[in-house]
Amino acid sequence: MTTDIDNATEGEDALAARFPAGFTWGAATSSYQVEGATTTDGRGRSIWDTFVAEPGRVVDGSNGDKAIDSYNNIEGDVALVGELGLNSYRFSLSWPRVCPDGDSRVNRAGLDYYSALVDALLEADVTPWVTLYHWDLPQALENAGGWPKRDTAERFGEFARAAHAVLGDRVKHWITVNEPWCAAFLGYASGEHAPGRREPAASIAAAHHLMVGHGLAARAIKEADPASTVSIGLNFYPVYAASDTPADVDAARRIDGVQNRWFTDAALKGAYPEDIVEDFEAVTDFSFVEVGDMELINAPLDCLSVNFYSQFTVTAAEGGAASASAAPTNAGSPWPANEHIGFVTTGLPQTDMGWEIAPQGLTETLKRLHANYPQVTLAVTENGAAFPDKLVEGQVADSERLDYVRDHLEACADAIEAGVPLVGYFAWSLADNFEWAWGYTKRFGLVYVDFETGQRVVKDSGKWYGDLVRQARSNGEAK
Ligand code: FCB
Repeated sequence: MTTDIDNATEGEDALAARFPAGFTWGAATSSYQVEGATTTDGRGRSIWDTFVAEPGRVVDGSNGDKAIDSYNNIEGDVALVGELGLNSYRFSLSWPRVCPDGDSRVNRAGLDYYSALVDALLEADVTPWVTLYHWDLPQALENAGGWPKRDTAERFGEFARAAHAVLGDRVKHWITVNEPWCAAFLGYASGEHAPGRREPAASIAAAHHLMVGHGLAARAIKEADPASTVSIGLNFYPVYAASDTPADVDAARRIDGVQNRWFTDAALKGAYPEDIVEDFEAVTDFSFVEVGDMELINAPLDCLSVNFYSQFTVTAAEGGAASASAAPTNAGSPWPANEHIGFVTTGLPQTDMGWEIAPQGLTETLKRLHANYPQVTLAVTENGAAFPDKLVEGQVADSERLDYVRDHLEACADAIEAGVPLVGYFAWSLADNFEWAWGYTKRFGLVYVDFETGQRVVKDSGKWYGDLVRQARSNGEAK
């Protein structure tokens, strides 16, 4: 008789065997979500420090002052990465830790922390993937106008150069900007994220300057080390029309355009998609785009970092927004007519964020990206799910997250077998952490964190992922 456990093991082996030797297996975090130590060793203030202090911005009134104290726990975090058997770890640099005032003054103590983290990872045979911008803009730069101002992009290029000068001898994988969609449209259009502004025209300028910053950073890194891998992190969702009425189909075109084509076309084709430019012309004249910008944004990329969580089904019908909870990011709408785009649920199971679970959408997304932008490799740099975990007698039985991760890894394997050059997978997240406007109410970790004591406990999903990774890596060594 075959037991369930045998079946599970067989399934795991079969899944592990579908990944190529040398595949990157990782987990991801970001600075503000895990570091804490927001006033330590000369760190400057970021827009998130300011935002979280404003009543009503974060559902549980919490902040990242302590987060999960990763700043003081390099050894523990790296040990967890090792315990999971991972060969890579993605983390981000806090810009105000490195450049407290957002200008050219570099805070060596801030860089020392990242340098020590990189050393500890390499010592443990773990390859660092470093994100330069995961949303914690120095407050000084926001005071000067923030991303809607071009100067912020110039400063970002300088920050990239300064960070690379210290870490570039050991860090070979760089992600310039994480999810400029969120930084621009949640930050400056819907106001759900820092700096909490609701200025549609400014949000489109912000999106452009985030991309100019990306281009400047990519250029700085490639100039300093042509052998390094440079990437940009974008969040993708398959977008479906709720019906085949022309209005719903057009709503899907618009959301797909701003979500899936705006940033990729700019970075990889050197032009914004015409149809969305026309839509945006309702709110901006694009006078912030300067000669040469698109060439800069189109700087050669090695890899496209794909963050994937869910899918969207949209309708132009009034009232459709009533079920907007299915959409993680629906309110970030830079054009006024978007108030008539609603996000509908389709009955699929949802995570604790209300995000529909649609793993085949990841295969679809990877295949589409490869078809449209064949010049880059792809890496899934975020994928994961929030569920209301409970620690019971030293265990976290998070079978829903385990299923989510397994189903999405199956989807990755399907894409690889269809010819997609997928080089890696990073689970979001290594450990439970500060989930932006949701504070500590949403747990995404493979590792459970007691937010009071800081105690870490590997969840069942983390144990399962670790077993799979170990199996895949040992297959790889045997190949
Ligand atoms: C992504 C963010 C990441 C985390 C996950 C759940 O959009 O990049 O920091 O919040 O969502």
